[in-house]
Amino acid sequence: MQDLEKDFQDRIDRGEVIEPRDWMPEKYRKTHIRQISQHAHSEIVGMLPEGNWLTRTPTLRRKVALLAKVQDEAGHGLYLYSAAETLGISRDELFEQLNAGKAKYSSIFNYPTLSWADIGIIGWLVDGAAIINQVMLTRTSYGPYARAMVKICKEESFHQRQGFEIMMTLCNGTAVQKQMAQDSLNRWWWPSLMMFGPPDAESTHTEQSMKWKIKLKTNDELRQQMVDVTVEQAKVLGLTMPDPDIKWNEERGHYDFGEIDWEEFWQVVKGYGPCNKERLAARNKAWDEGAWVREAAVAYAEKQAAKRTQAIAV
Ligand SMILES: [Fe+2]
Ligand SMILES: [Fe+2]
Repeated sequence: MQDLEKDFQDRIDRGEVIEPRDWMPEKYRKTHIRQISQHAHSEIVGMLPEGNWLTRTPTLRRKVALLAKVQDEAGHGLYLYSAAETLGISRDELFEQLNAGKAKYSSIFNYPTLSWADIGIIGWLVDGAAIINQVMLTRTSYGPYARAMVKICKEESFHQRQGFEIMMTLCNGTAVQKQMAQDSLNRWWWPSLMMFGPPDAESTHTEQSMKWKIKLKTNDELRQQMVDVTVEQAKVLGLTMPDPDIKWNEERGHYDFGEIDWEEFWQVVKGYGPCNKERLAARNKAWDEGAWVREAAVAYAEKQAAKRTQAIAV
């Protein structure tokens, strides 16, 4: 057993990719199921806050782009559920965990989308943060996960650009539009920094995940990258960052920033965010109302299979 674990670690250290049929430590398998399924759930639940604005987009062009984006997120969820299934868990089990409130998903999606500017902000900041996280994951050690991330990242950059373009339009618009953009940044900035997870000192999984190349950078490193990129983009938009402590630090070569309210983060993670209940209720409703579609698909597949067997018999 020890030899197997050592060989496994050597493979990872050499930069080899682990495939579903390869031997892997049970903890590696479980950690991946947890991470990939949380990621899949985030893509699926993430459709809800944006779906809220699909019927109220300001123009037809915006509607087409938003529809395409929300549909992409559904696709991301499906690739990721498939990647999780290669580790020996069924999709039904994964949905059951989500619907029962046992599985986690990104806490950012438990915040409400109150104005059209929030759709711009989600693309700019939330998809922006997702890209920072996910570009790293294209080089993660587990093959099916890494390959899913390559395709996902290409689509995320379209999402980020459509969000930034919405922000740009609002910021170049009337005073009211600009104010709407600023208000949205004020509400979403801190939750988007929380997307990178707890500080390194408190992150329970970081060390092992780095060793197995599930993670290639720590939460705090990724968060710093997000701050550095966003502060510059906010300048282009002419928006003010809602953090008086943001200041360029010549010595570090990075922006310093203020203290994150981790109490708020843990409240949302534990299920007490503004929309946790609403999101779970929406997922359960979709699952229940979709039962007939799943049954019909299975019945159709069985019919097709029976036809094939008949044809072979003849
Ligand atoms: Fe996505
Ligand atoms: Fe996205």
